[in-house]
Amino acid sequence: MMNKTYEEISFDQLSDVERSLINAATEVMQYSHNPYSKFHVGAALLTESGKIISGTNYENAAYGSTICAERAAILKANAEGHRDLKMIAIIGKGKDFDSPEPIAPCGACRQVIFEASQLGDYDIDVIMSNTKQTKIFKSKISRLLPLAFGPKDLSY
Ligand code: THU
Repeated sequence: MMNKTYEEISFDQLSDVERSLINAATEVMQYSHNPYSKFHVGAALLTESGKIISGTNYENAAYGSTICAERAAILKANAEGHRDLKMIAIIGKGKDFDSPEPIAPCGACRQVIFEASQLGDYDIDVIMSNTKQTKIFKSKISRLLPLAFGPKDLSY
């Protein structure tokens, strides 16, 4: 089972803290700066002490300078002194449409989540949800980015 990339679980099967993370990720989508794609993404992190830190996508007129929700949340956590990340929840929504499928982190975000996982010495749990929270995937960053290159390869 642990070799699968992800498992699908229902909202009912989520723990209280997992639900809180999805709710926080949903809340923060209201601040998404997305004039170009009009796609809202929210991410919420759980620290070891139980603190929830959220972030949302922040687009840029130079499109490639866009920051995804996941990276926004991780940088916010770092600026608050948190490198002890345990879990991240991600959710998304279009302007005029719900996302039918769970939102999975992009490749760049997987790499940054992996960096955080080695800094915090914990294989971060990743919860991915569709807009209506009717389809939820659960995984681990090591499963979403197998054979990854990270700080330990640089002996950090
Ligand atoms: N986006 C995220 O914030 N996270 C993801 O995992 C996928 C994509 C954002 C970037 C951009 O603002 C919009 O979604 C469309 O790509």
